[in-house]
Amino acid sequence: MSSPLRSQDWFGRKDKLGFIHRSWMKTEGFSDSVFRNKPVIGICNSWSELTNCNAHLRQVAEAVKRGVWAAGGFPLEFPTISLGEPFMRPTSMMFRNLMAMDVEESIRANPLDGVVLLCGCDKTTPAQLMGAASAGLPAIMVTGGPMLRGMWRNQPLGSGTDVWHYWDELRAGRINEEEWCELESCMSRSTGHCMVMGTASTMTSLAEAMGMTLTGCASIPAADSRRNEIAERSGARIVAMVRENLTPDKIITRKSIENAIRVNMAIGGSTNAIIHLKAVAGRLGIDLPLRLYDEISNITPVIANIRPSGEYLMEDLFYAGGVPAVMKQIESMLHPDALTVTGKTTAENIASAKCHNPDVIRPLDNPLQTEGGTVILYGNLCPDGAVIKTSAADPRLMRHTGRAVVFEDHEDFMARYDDPTLEIEETCVMVLKNGGPKGGPGMPEYGNLPIPAKLLKKGVSDMVRISDSRMSGTSYGTVVLHVSPESAVGGPLWAVRNGDEIRLDVENRRLDLLIDDHEMNRRLRLFKPRAPHYDRGYGRLFIDSVLQADQGCDFSFLVQSEKRDENGDYAEGTRAADKLPLAF
Ligand code: FES
Repeated sequence: MSSPLRSQDWFGRKDKLGFIHRSWMKTEGFSDSVFRNKPVIGICNSWSELTNCNAHLRQVAEAVKRGVWAAGGFPLEFPTISLGEPFMRPTSMMFRNLMAMDVEESIRANPLDGVVLLCGCDKTTPAQLMGAASAGLPAIMVTGGPMLRGMWRNQPLGSGTDVWHYWDELRAGRINEEEWCELESCMSRSTGHCMVMGTASTMTSLAEAMGMTLTGCASIPAADSRRNEIAERSGARIVAMVRENLTPDKIITRKSIENAIRVNMAIGGSTNAIIHLKAVAGRLGIDLPLRLYDEISNITPVIANIRPSGEYLMEDLFYAGGVPAVMKQIESMLHPDALTVTGKTTAENIASAKCHNPDVIRPLDNPLQTEGGTVILYGNLCPDGAVIKTSAADPRLMRHTGRAVVFEDHEDFMARYDDPTLEIEETCVMVLKNGGPKGGPGMPEYGNLPIPAKLLKKGVSDMVRISDSRMSGTSYGTVVLHVSPESAVGGPLWAVRNGDEIRLDVENRRLDLLIDDHEMNRRLRLFKPRAPHYDRGYGRLFIDSVLQADQGCDFSFLVQSEKRDENGDYAEGTRAADKLPLAF
């Protein structure tokens, strides 16, 4: 027999509180029948007109409600803060943890038995996964889906990726202002999130790979009617999950996270996923050392031919079979027994998956790249690690030594990078400081530093660039990111000076400043922190509590302190779900 519904402690009471809970709910016109032992399903909606990628999620929520009602549940939609990638300053990343806290506490505080998470734009997916993992109630994710492919003069256009490409073309004088304006309207022509394998498509694909969505959810275009169909089925499924008490800690395990990392490598996914997966895993006490990404990357080929690593777009991935077909190709490398929201294992979910276009989803004997798309570097410049997305970088720069051209912060960079007097050539290494979690603040996506126009005009298309910031998943180039510890806390990046030599050696996983230890220590002893960006409010909380990139940039006080063993059991104490207070 299943345990009593949590919501009945609000709606099933015979006392004064029960009267209040039911009576006030009746202001919305519900009849008594909804209070009679129906699972109450929260629909956690990140809809916002300020988050264009999620602006269609009210319609998706209606489809979820149909499924919940049909399965005998009682759906209640609620908003949280939403994070629109193009608009938020200083960066949406600064608010990921705020949204995760909002999601967690909204679930915990209300009379819910289960929750459907509606997301899409970059940070909304990890924020919901983090919050739902900490809250501990049964949860299923419905992603909003990618936009239809952009088209310009019969050429497909990818969100972000082609902005960077054509911006360089404009600055190099190869397209004109009129063409640039025309491109603007041709790129984003439907609802949905960015339709390259940027952070949004990566995180929604990984949510599917780790078993938090129904099979095939991630790649259905937002504008396709099947988006609402899978939303309806997800609404029905969460009602059953409540009865099964299928909580996130049973789905998000070491095995399922490893499956997600594996899929991230196979799809040439965003470097941002490294930070977000670390943060999600941390909410459930799963230790995820940075080296694990590299170990998995080393033996996982890139097989999804999607921009920015490849040629096609998410719509093409959908027609080719979507994430299930990618997972089918690498099935032998996955943990087949990882449990998912379907109640079935990963292997059962993808049993009938097929690839319908071997140029979009390549077979293992014809990959886009034989090793995974992301490499973790160590060295005296990044003792706690750094990241490079090799699948989107120039192979000729994978072993490179060059003269450092240093920018102290983003403002300094913007002021000088196109200055014709800047002493820079294509063999130089561009270094940006103060772009990390505390220094940015919020670790903005500064990392893909634009190449100076005078070099673009000479035909230079890539250079080595190094920073402690992040890069948009839609970007490309030989860009070393997430250097840890960051320069703002006195990491070695702070010690780099103009004219120093820096060596990047991807094969040996090294990034080094070519000075000896004595000189490095001498310079680091001179470190003086800058004044913090904030002295009050959320900004102050962020600066005081944010962890470094290699720790997932979560707040130190939000990480689950109880560690889980290989079997997923907590070493001591109680599970997150058991800590939920029932009522006031
Ligand atoms: Fe929302 Fe790219 S701006 S996913």
